[in-house]
Amino acid sequence: MRSFRAAIITVSDTGFAGERIDQSGPLIQDMLIQAGYEVALYRILPDERTDLAEHLSDLCDRHQADLILTTGGTGFSPRDYTPEATLDIAERLVSGIPEAMRAYSLQKTNRAMLSRSVAVIRGQTLIINLPGSPRAAKENLECILPALEHGLAIMIGTAKDCARPLEPV
Ligand code: MTE
Repeated sequence: MRSFRAAIITVSDTGFAGERIDQSGPLIQDMLIQAGYEVALYRILPDERTDLAEHLSDLCDRHQADLILTTGGTGFSPRDYTPEATLDIAERLVSGIPEAMRAYSLQKTNRAMLSRSVAVIRGQTLIINLPGSPRAAKENLECILPALEHGLAIMIGTAKDCARPLEPV
């Protein structure tokens, strides 16, 4: 089976303007490659809801990626609209992924509750918002990576067996 194709979008006004070096995008890229993914695209976009929604829907509709990870723009600042842009183009909600990320992250910092990240499916692409700081992005991604491949395989129709092996009673 081919490896899953991923795209990474860093959402940051300062990163887009070249005023700050993006550390989270490359870090996510390393983690994905380590886990066996092909990273087909990495891009920095400003915190513009409409632009981001258009980029996301375009990537999904031309099926350039099985998985899109965004980083940044999930908090409370006036320009943080990544979750809304993601929901603007969503077909199906995947609530369990942000639930798991926040539950896991709350063991590390109570500020984890401040991330408004969402996960959705559009067509055959899963989009997941990660928070923006490198540490937060890493902690959130390490929580979901082990379960992700199975979900992606079901989404694109290559999962052979959904059942877990029976445990002895
Ligand atoms: N999650 C983890 N695992 N570790 C963190 O340090 N930081 C939180 C939260 N999630 C954090 C985390 C903080 S301080 C904020 S404000 C939110 O993510 C939103 O981050 P963003 O606005 O950069 O997307």
